[in-house]
Order: sequence, then C-alpha cells, then structure tokens
Amino acid sequence: MRPWTNDEAIKRWAQFPREVLDAMEPDGDFARRQLLNPALLRLLGDMHGQRILDAGCGHGYLSRMLAARGAQVTGVEPAQALYDYATSKETGEPRGIRYVQADLCQLPDLGAPFDAVVANMVLLDIPDWAGAMNACVAALAPGGLFVFSIIHPCFEQLAPSWREHGEYRIGEYFTEYEIHGPYGPNFHRPLSAYLNELARLGCQLRELAEPALDPAVAATAGGGADAYVHLPNFLIVAARRALPNGEPSGPSAAACDGGRPSPWPAHPADPRAARRRLAGRSGRRPRRAGCGLPPGRRPAGHRGRGPGALR
Ligand SMILES: C[S@@+](CC[C@H](N)C(=O)[O-])C[C@H]1O[C@@H](n2cnc3c(N)ncnc32)[C@H](O)[C@@H]1O
Repeated sequence: MRPWTNDEAIKRWAQFPREVLDAMEPDGDFARRQLLNPALLRLLGDMHGQRILDAGCGHGYLSRMLAARGAQVTGVEPAQALYDYATSKETGEPRGIRYVQADLCQLPDLGAPFDAVVANMVLLDIPDWAGAMNACVAALAPGGLFVFSIIHPCFEQLAPSWREHGEYRIGEYFTEYEIHGPYGPNFHRPLSAYLNELARLGCQLRELAEPALDPAVAATAGGGADAYVHLPNFLIVAARRALPNGEPSGPSAAACDGGRPSPWPAHPADPRAARRRLAGRSGRRPRRAGCGLPPGRRPAGHRGRGPGALR
C-alpha cells in the first residue's frame, strides 16, 4: 500500500463538516476542555505579549484562547474548511490573530521567530511528521518553547478497549500504521519516534504531561470515560529549542526533505500491514479510541471517534 502524502491527508481534513464546527464549544471538545487545554495552558505559562505559532490550528479554538490571554497569535492551517472557519471567526470578532493557509512542511516566511510554538493534536495527523516537527522547531527563537500533544502512543485504543475488556489491551506498538479517523487520517508511531526526533533537533525536554480525568467528571460523562481516570489518553510534550551556545545542533533550515536520517522510517512499505496483522490476531479491525466521549454526547455526524470531533 502506498503511503499517504501530506497533500492527500490535507484534502481529507479540507472536507471537515461545517455543522460539526458550529456545534463545538468555544474552548473545544470534551477532551480538549477536560484534558488538553489545562495542560497546554499551564505549560505555555504567562503568554502576555508572546509571539505564539499555533501550528495546524484547525478551526482556531486554541488560537482564540491564546489571543484572549494576551498572546500575539499566528495560526497555520492548510485545510480549506478549517482555515475558512478560523478566518471567518476572526473577521466576525477580530482578536489580532493572523491566519496563514499552509502545510507546516512548506511554511512561507512568517516573520520574526516565535517565543512558543504549539502543535495540538497535529503531528500524529501528518504523514511527514518529522518534517513538520522540524519546521515547528525552526520557527522558534533560540530558547523558545515547543509544546505538542498527541494521542498517547501507548494507549490509542483506550476507550473501546476499556469498554470491551474493562482494561486496556494493545496488540501492535512498534510499527507505524494508519488509524482511520472520521475527518482525516492519523498515524500510530512509537513514542520513541517523537522523542528521539525532538532530541535530534537539539531540543531540551522540559516536561511530559499525561493528564488524568477528574473522577467526578468521568462519573457524569459515562460511556467508558472512567478509562481516562486510570490511563492517559494524551501525551503533551514541552521542550525548549537549544540556545546558540547550547550543545546539540539545532534544527536544519530545510524543513521537510527526506535527505536527513530519521530515527524511525516515515512509512513502512505497507502502513496498513500492522492493522491487518492485528485484525488477524484478534479477529477484528483495530479501532481508534479518540477521546472516549460517550455516544450520547458525540456531535452530530460523529462516527464513533470519542468526545472530540477533532479528536
Ligand atoms: C486533529 S486536528 C487539530 C486541530 C487543532 N490543532 C485543534 O486542536 O483543534 C489536526 C489538524 O492538523 C492539520 N494538518 C494536517 N496536515 C497538516 C500539515 N501538513 N500541516 C499543518 N497542519 C496539518 C489538519 O488540517 C487539522 O486541522
């Protein structure tokens, strides 16, 4: 099976249904409100006057939250429907957010380096994720903060596994493989792939966050949300770009070519092979956990991904 290209993935995201976006809370879906946002905001810290790049900003909810906290925000989003939604929100209520429609791997000149770059649930959706990570780090000023979140690579099937077995089970970890999402593809990669690339780019790890759901919230949410009380659905990584006098080398200027060695192959020859192996082993197709929103709380048109319409 031929691996995905960035353009193919972006075309899928470009068809994101408007009605799903319209139905979202201003601060994102259940998972973002309960798990991701508190950790992201804490890790970003006082952002007043800071230049922040929201890399892969989607419909822009986080850009708006950061701007409301005094940041000078640039949001980069390649997919048409999401970019259009974000820009229409800015037109309707200007917050000084600049939106740029671009693939992170083909960034235009965005001006002065950023104090912080945040990539919220983005790298796992990009076929050339290492190129995108390189571009995020390259956009930072020396010492700048890079914060990214992904579905925790160790617990991607969390909600359905918990509902079915009352515990978490995983059948394949080491291979990169695609996981079908309702609005765009995303990809399992081992945790080491992300962290080793970060190290290769010369970043200094500041914190790994694995947010847990408040048991009281889980009790009212139902539908297997208690899984998130016990196991982390998300991993949030905060790292700093090295200072000029700091040791390892910084990111390369060329953002996304295939010319540099990667600690992990971007795509195995057949990215669905692992899923087929897993299906053969368990007798069913591997499923995407998403965020585990109970079915009754899923937005219209949602096809079982979990609380987050964007995951
Ligand atoms: C799960 S959504 C997250 C959006 C947003 N960060 C949020 O938290 O709501 C993934 C986003 O990554 C974007 N994306 C996919 N490929 C990309 C690429 N090559 N460069 C930048 N963004 C990309 C998608 O268009 C989509 O908006």
